[in-house]
Amino acid sequence: MSLKVLILGINGFIGSSLLEHCLEKTDWQLIGLDLSENKISEFIKHPRLTFKKGDLNHEIVWIEQQIQHCDVVIPLVAIATPASYVKNPLGIFELDFEANLKIIRLCVKHQKRIVFPSTSEVYGMCTDEAFDEETSNFVLGPINKPRWIYSCSKQLLDRVIHAYGLANELRYTLFRPFNWLGPKLDDPHNPKPGSSRVVSQFIGNILRGEAIQLVNGGQQRRSFIDIDDGIGCLLKIIANKNGCAEQAIFNIGNPANDVSIRELAELLLELIKTYAYYANYATQVELQTINSDNYYGKGYQDVERRMPSIKRAQQQLDWQPRIDIKTSLKKILDFYLLN
Ligand code: UGA
Repeated sequence: MSLKVLILGINGFIGSSLLEHCLEKTDWQLIGLDLSENKISEFIKHPRLTFKKGDLNHEIVWIEQQIQHCDVVIPLVAIATPASYVKNPLGIFELDFEANLKIIRLCVKHQKRIVFPSTSEVYGMCTDEAFDEETSNFVLGPINKPRWIYSCSKQLLDRVIHAYGLANELRYTLFRPFNWLGPKLDDPHNPKPGSSRVVSQFIGNILRGEAIQLVNGGQQRRSFIDIDDGIGCLLKIIANKNGCAEQAIFNIGNPANDVSIRELAELLLELIKTYAYYANYATQVELQTINSDNYYGKGYQDVERRMPSIKRAQQQLDWQPRIDIKTSLKKILDFYLLN
């Protein structure tokens, strides 16, 4: 029998890509909820998709009915941009924590397996060479740095899910995306500073002829992973062949794509020069250093180095990320510059 998968937030960056891959590579039935449908419009009439337009907070009756009739629940609704953690910490708590806790409890009530998005942010300023799901410590700043409310909200949900698991009340898998990249991440044409994650922000800066702002000089590092590699791992988690993902936590990232933010900006400028119509834009762009207090406000603190250990996903799920960062950035640029 084909799996019935409920995806809350199906029009988001991960949700929309997950839907596309599920329709292409599996025979699963998908049920999705979201406020809008712009990223999934081409699939909206697909016979294996049931889509409901609506707000997680207002559709709890419908959601409970769907949970009763599905096999796996994937709650992807959350705000995940660092500028919002600083500007609207209560909004993060209410949506990312409170609203999702209700969904977790419904999974417990109806004994449904949950595949829940944790985050690389839970490790905070951990100084380990590579962050490990079972041994790394979580290192967060003080309360007057609300940047950590997202990390902390997600961490507590991870702990609640784990505790339900220990009590034999919930079947779960937690996955931790590490800087996933893809065309539908954020809209680079949205000019609000800090409203996008770094790659979309830099592409937007270049296309608007603005300077690229390197927060505190851009020496901080991230390991970026192409969304197609990330979704490949997520599909294995959902399929859960022979229970390989049962009661486990997996980092999903690509340590081979570890670059500094300055190197990322330089790479993007180099790549954009290969698009004839836009080459000019890139030659005019300056790299400027900006203090993080001025860019995000005083409630911000950065993660200097963030690299996942992926040995658990490699060994338990037989998964390997394959797409290098240049190829991944080129896919995003093709999407915005050639369409
Ligand atoms: C992100 C977000 O918190 C989440 O989307 C997610 O959970 C997580 O990381 C992840 O995807 O793993 P972060 O990597 O700090 O956090 O987010 P970005 O906004 O993409 O920033 C990356 C780095 O670029 C930061 O050091 C930031 O200060 C820097 N940056 C950003 C700039 O130097 N200039 C900019 O204009 C924007």
